[in-house]
Amino acid sequence: MKKYIIAPSILSANFARLGEDTQKVLDAGADVIHFDVMDNHFVPNLTMGAMFCKALREYGITAPIDVHLMVSPVEELITAFAKAGATNISIHPEATVHLDRSLQLIKDHGCTAGIVLNPATPLNCLDYIIEKIDIILLMSVNPGFGGQSFIPSTIKKIQQVKQRIIESGRDIRLEVDGGVKVENIAEIAKAGADMFVAGSAIFNQPNYKAVIDAMRKELAG
Ligand code: DX5
Ligand code: ZN
Repeated sequence: MKKYIIAPSILSANFARLGEDTQKVLDAGADVIHFDVMDNHFVPNLTMGAMFCKALREYGITAPIDVHLMVSPVEELITAFAKAGATNISIHPEATVHLDRSLQLIKDHGCTAGIVLNPATPLNCLDYIIEKIDIILLMSVNPGFGGQSFIPSTIKKIQQVKQRIIESGRDIRLEVDGGVKVENIAEIAKAGADMFVAGSAIFNQPNYKAVIDAMRKELAG
């Protein structure tokens, strides 16, 4: 498994040509496709349902699809996205009354499970489920929109979560989502992150490969 994973968020992709644009960013060197699913209830925005995941699989996208559910309730959409071809499904603890059961549902469907921590979500929500998760996704913006600025205090939180992962002895990916770009990705990696969501930083540029190569150069130190 690669040391660092670059996961472009298709939130900033060309939705009029989503299949082509998704394949284009993969051909440019992206490792995973990040799906930002919003329901205009848990977050103040509305994006895409499981049919988009199914459509991309039918279009021929074979790369891992990392689904970030910013929805409440989560259970029905966990099942819908798992059936539509999701590889990983990450949920917010605030979005479900039964977090352990919802994470188990993800795994019962054969997907890896992630927990998403908003900027103000405390780390103690990891206490009783860290044995069940494969990814911890730290939001470095308040969820709902692409193109926001990275919240600087996230760096300290990344360091604290990395320490929790080391103490757990488990192979858990530390993913960061929001305001990640060429200029800050090295600092984010140095703090302990090893999976990077980037939407506007990649899709708003004409040459996806140039941006991804620049990010990898920064990560190589
Ligand atoms: C927020 C979204 C964004 C998106 C990344 O809800 O989750 O963080 O993935 O957007 P950029 O990279 O444009 O900040
Ligand atoms: Zn996301």
